[in-house]
Amino acid sequence: MTLLRIDASARTTNSVSRALADQAEAALAPAKVIRRDLASDPVPQIDGFWAASRLVAEEDRSAEEADALRLSDDLIADLQAADTVLIASPVYNFGLPAALKAWIDLVARPKVTFSYTPDGPVGLLKGKRAVIVMASGGTKIDGPGDYATPHLRHVLAFLGITDVSVVSSEADLDKLDHQAAA
Ligand SMILES: Cc1cc2nc3c(=O)[nH]c(=O)nc-3n(C[C@H](O)[C@H](O)[C@H](O)COP(=O)(O)O)c2cc1C
Repeated sequence: MTLLRIDASARTTNSVSRALADQAEAALAPAKVIRRDLASDPVPQIDGFWAASRLVAEEDRSAEEADALRLSDDLIADLQAADTVLIASPVYNFGLPAALKAWIDLVARPKVTFSYTPDGPVGLLKGKRAVIVMASGGTKIDGPGDYATPHLRHVLAFLGITDVSVVSSEADLDKLDHQAAA
């Protein structure tokens, strides 16, 4: 099993989400791990040129347009290579950290990770599982003030990943362990 692990906390030490994700990673026992740490190796925010470039067919792209999409292509290749995606994130101001939103903006690509059909949008990332590890300082995960976890779950479903587990406590980690062992 290949695991793609995304860490989104701005803290690289004393981070609750990273500590929980370490336990989740151990429970999942992946054969290979692809890591992206959005604190020590952040991705840029998209700009207007990027947004326009993503709409140009691959065969028609200029060198500059292809360059603009290179990081997005690489991040999507990591997703495509993964069987399981582990996303560890804090709740910041009731939502997702900007670092993680920047990653989402780069991996949600029309005709690459989702497409529009006459029946509505279809996610193109198939056969994958996601584990979301959320840390907060009081906002109840999936409670009324949590706009982060539902947002992330919705984005993953939009991209085709509907098998999603949410871990926010050690009790949940026990369950994940049993799922991995099953
Ligand atoms: C900028 C910022 C905004 C935060 N906003 C919230 C919030 O809206 N709700 C909450 O429960 N905790 C909030 N927290 C607390 C963090 O979610 C909490 O400390 C969490 O453990 C951070 O994850 P980490 O330990 O992996 O760094 C905030 C922390 C920071 C730094």
